[in-house]
Amino acid sequence: MLVYLNGSYLHQDDAKVHVSDRGFLFGDGVYEVFRVVHGEIFREQAHLERLNESLDAMGLDVEKKIRKSLPGVFRELIERNNLIKNEATIYLQITRGAASPRTHPWPDPAVEPTIFVASEPFSPHLELQKSGIRVITMADLRWARCNIKSVNLLPNTMARQRALEAGVQSAILIRDGVVTESPNANIFGVQKNRLITYPATNYLLEGITRGVVLEIAMRLNVETDFTGIREEDLFDLDEIFFTGTTTDIQPVVEIDGKPVNSGKPGPVTAKIQQTYHEALYENR
Ligand code: PDD
Repeated sequence: MLVYLNGSYLHQDDAKVHVSDRGFLFGDGVYEVFRVVHGEIFREQAHLERLNESLDAMGLDVEKKIRKSLPGVFRELIERNNLIKNEATIYLQITRGAASPRTHPWPDPAVEPTIFVASEPFSPHLELQKSGIRVITMADLRWARCNIKSVNLLPNTMARQRALEAGVQSAILIRDGVVTESPNANIFGVQKNRLITYPATNYLLEGITRGVVLEIAMRLNVETDFTGIREEDLFDLDEIFFTGTTTDIQPVVEIDGKPVNSGKPGPVTAKIQQTYHEALYENR
């Protein structure tokens, strides 16, 4: 596969990042993951807006010219990698660039940011979307700026690994007695005709898929409640599901070894799944 690095299209084995890159040394960077269906980038604008918010939040001033060039780079990469006819993902990472000697404060004057884009084929997890997933609960040990899509994913990777080692697919993270999200997806509970989810605060990555689900809920006349699911109410929910760019809509059928309701994916999740699927594949 070809990747894009700082203005060049290179074979991924030939793309080299400097050892003084602050992304490598400090995790001083942000990222985005986009979904591509037959060459069309789903909700591209929303992802780019969130990217700009992350860059602004970390004080990384990327030239307008570079920001504006990104959609062209995505398309060029999809074409060069022959992914027009496939489903694919695009991974974009921007770091504060390479600067030595290593110091915590930002380089002054600022250096060129490192811009990396990769695109590869993607197969949706259709089996899991149908069967639902099993998860365990655990404390949300992340920092207090989860709204920044930072490349610092150590708590997220550790949580996924712990879930895997416990024999389940993923985890529900809990902060102060309330469900925040999963290590790589947002979470919705369903009770009667109401969707319950965590509010868009600094403790949540405001997912693009979450936004689409909220639009769908409005269209389907499903109420929304942003008070968050309380840990003690988890087993009173009718349904619960995860949402994300590579997750799509995934029902959760078991939590900490106990079934959610009947232990099968529920009808509200199925309806949202179907409507989301239509939006994702519409005209594509
Ligand atoms: N993860 N919450 C977290 C912590 C995430 O990492 C993600 C996405 C989401 C869902 O956001 P969206 O709907 O915009 O994909 C929520 C990406 C896909 C990843 O890290 O691979």
